[in-house]
Amino acid sequence: MTTTAPEDRPDPPAATVAAAEDLTAEVVASFGQAPPRLRTLMQDLVSHLHTFVVENDVTEDEWRAAIDFLTQAGHITSDVRQEFILLSDTLGVSSLVDILTNSRTPDSTPSAVLGPFYVEGPPDMDHGTDISGGGLAGDPVYADFTVTDTEGRPVADAVVDVWQANQDGFYDVQLPELEGPVLRGRFRSDANGHLDFWTILPAPYPIPDDGPVGQLLGASRRHPMRAPHVHVMISAPGRHRLITQLFVEGGDYLDGDTVFGVKGPLVVPFPRQEDPPPTGAPAPVVAGAGWRRLTFTFGLAEER
Ligand code: BEZ
Ligand code: FE
Repeated sequence: MTTTAPEDRPDPPAATVAAAEDLTAEVVASFGQAPPRLRTLMQDLVSHLHTFVVENDVTEDEWRAAIDFLTQAGHITSDVRQEFILLSDTLGVSSLVDILTNSRTPDSTPSAVLGPFYVEGPPDMDHGTDISGGGLAGDPVYADFTVTDTEGRPVADAVVDVWQANQDGFYDVQLPELEGPVLRGRFRSDANGHLDFWTILPAPYPIPDDGPVGQLLGASRRHPMRAPHVHVMISAPGRHRLITQLFVEGGDYLDGDTVFGVKGPLVVPFPRQEDPPPTGAPAPVVAGAGWRRLTFTFGLAEER
């Protein structure tokens, strides 16, 4: 990865600037017959990209390094590793598209990026289930969720998928020795829009940083860490699907989440509790281990 400064070239002569401008105009015009939206996007992309190259006087070595970077991203990408999404995430583009798409209804819960660790079809679970399976070390958390519309009316029968990292910052899919899904599950809200389950306090963790995106972060003196969070995806008839994350108030990296996913309303307390736990608490809680409560109400926007 190139980290040296570009060679100190003199300003280009007027003829060079004119040739560059002619070239840009020609490439923009080449998309003139594309369907309207594609034409708009491609012409604007070409225009911005050419401006970037000209304004930064990009060298052949730098451009080759950029192509090499993308080539490596392609090589490491597989069914279970998507380096281009990681690039989009760490450049803030995923969160930008997310904001533009999902933040147009002020009364709904803000969304956050999906991330690479969602697994389709998580196991159906009854209310009160411990999604850690009872065998994981960690600070027990009782999650008490309510699903409503933007007027605060309960949404019944919402499908609520939750998934998270363990106390060492790993998802089950990163731990091949684990059998079956752990720290993920699917719940349905009851007539009051309510559901509850037990879990453990999630830890901060690094995004997969053993590929070109990790090298770019390192070369840029950026850390790869995500603030601790629980992922939630909620689908309900007539409602816009919500993909979001709840962040642990006071957790590390809230101010420097490497994928720019943290939004104020999603940072929530997980306070320690002194009261007896609700019935169905996992064995360590019953035996006297402390526990925390996570209470949150999700507001779902109407389907657009
Ligand atoms: C995650 O939250 O699981 C995640 C999001 C973006 C990139 C990597 C991980
Ligand atoms: Fe995550």
